Amino acid sequence: MAIDPLAFIDTLERRIGFTSEDKSILKENAEWGLEIASEMADHFYAYLGRDPEMNAILHKTEGRIHRLHETFIQWFHEMFTGMDDWGNSYAQRRWQIGIVHVQIGIGPQHVVPAMAVVVHEVGKKLKANHKSEALKEALERICMIDLAFIEQASVEVAAFAVLKETGWSEALFRRLITHGAATM
Ligand code: HEM
Repeated sequence: MAIDPLAFIDTLERRIGFTSEDKSILKENAEWGLEIASEMADHFYAYLGRDPEMNAILHKTEGRIHRLHETFIQWFHEMFTGMDDWGNSYAQRRWQIGIVHVQIGIGPQHVVPAMAVVVHEVGKKLKANHKSEALKEALERICMIDLAFIEQASVEVAAFAVLKETGWSEALFRRLITHGAATM
């Protein structure tokens, strides 16, 4: 494992400003989150399905799309419950979700717009259900934390794989990247 997920979530909470008030309001609305999760999953997979490249990934194996609908509902609900108060289990789970996406070749170009769809659709639902601005902001923050996990996994896994395969030191690897970036 290239990062400590618990330390990473602590850093992200601080950077994003995810507060104990955010956690409380999410937990208070956990039932509502579960109620709307299936509808959010429908929007999410309809969006991915409109993109030929992502649609091909979704239907690559038998039953994948069905499984994904269920895992989305669980993922969405966990943002409200925080599992173990956004502790080690939450962080490990988010890190694992990141690794799964790296394994199937899904990168920032896929994940960032997809998370924007979640934020947009949940925003519409919050408005329709007369939910508070505070809940909207808490959800936006936790979505950004989850997004950062998936994004960071793609960087960490690539670096880890290169270091393992080549035996290079991290310092050499970073020097090569800096040098390469300078010549682009
Ligand atoms: C907001 C961004 C996303 C979230 C929160 C998300 C959530 C998840 C979760 C919770 C899993 C299950 C992980 C596990 O088995 O441990 C998963 C797997 C997967 N996701 Fe995503 N995902 C996102 C973006 C995408 C995108 C953009 C694609 C593009 C097609 C995608 C395709 C897949 C696929 C193919 C799997 C594996 C399904 C399987 O065969 O089990 N995801 N995702």
